[in-house]
Amino acid sequence: AFEVELAESGLTITVTPDQSILEAVRASGVEAWSSCEEGTCGTCETVVLAGEPDHRDSVLSPDEQASNETMMICVSRAACPKLTLEL
Ligand code: FES
Repeated sequence: AFEVELAESGLTITVTPDQSILEAVRASGVEAWSSCEEGTCGTCETVVLAGEPDHRDSVLSPDEQASNETMMICVSRAACPKLTLEL
C-alpha cells in the first residue's frame, strides 16, 4: 500500500494493492475523470506535484513518463511511499 495526497481536496488516502489510485480517489468521495481504465486513452491523466509514479500506461512516451509531470491514475501506481496529485 502507498499514500496519495490529494492536494486540492486536502485529503490523504491509502491505496491498497487490490485497488487502483482512481478507485481509491473515488472511494474518498473525490471525482475523477476516466474512460478506458486500462491505461490507453489518457482521460484520467493527472498532474503529479510530488513523488515518483510507477508508470504502467501506454499513453505517455518514455520521456513523458521519465519527467514524472503527469500520470494515468487508472493503472499507474507509486514507486515511493507517497504521491501528491493535483486532485
Ligand atoms: Fe484511460 Fe486512464 S482512463 S488511461
